Amino acid sequence: MQAIIEQILKDATAFQNGCHGLSHWNTVAAHGRTIALYEELDAWFLRLFAYFHDCQRLSDGRDPEHGPRAADYVMTWTPEALEMSEDDQRRLAFACRYHTHERQTDDKTIRACWDCDRLDLGRVGIVVNPKFLFTETAKRIARDKPLAQVQDAHAPRIRRRLRR
Ligand SMILES: [Fe+2]
Repeated sequence: MQAIIEQILKDATAFQNGCHGLSHWNTVAAHGRTIALYEELDAWFLRLFAYFHDCQRLSDGRDPEHGPRAADYVMTWTPEALEMSEDDQRRLAFACRYHTHERQTDDKTIRACWDCDRLDLGRVGIVVNPKFLFTETAKRIARDKPLAQVQDAHAPRIRRRLRR
């Protein structure tokens, strides 16, 4: 995984340190591990989503095309390099493409990816409403984790943002 992350960082747009950057990707990956475990989903798929979904952002602000750009970027890799099948690569691209403007899907793994991303909204001071989450595990995490605790983990960045 380390080699994949290093390549993603090399190919990432100039932006990788903001609130949609590497520390967010790490948090999404951590949620992915938990959700994959409890929901019996493909942990590798969720991990790749964590590191790909925001890597083509151009800024921390409104950037509606970053999902489609991430999806196109996923498809520049070979399935071998991603250590997944062609079909899974296309599913990963779908998960990235629609992670902000969600499309209807019955794919439990893709829904779990979107939950992992949403669960980290606390970093920007947004309380995650379990109603908008798909998996029971994500709902439980959202209910159990008070916002103060979530914000605590991201406190230095939130303070920096508030200062600007
Ligand atoms: Fe994200």
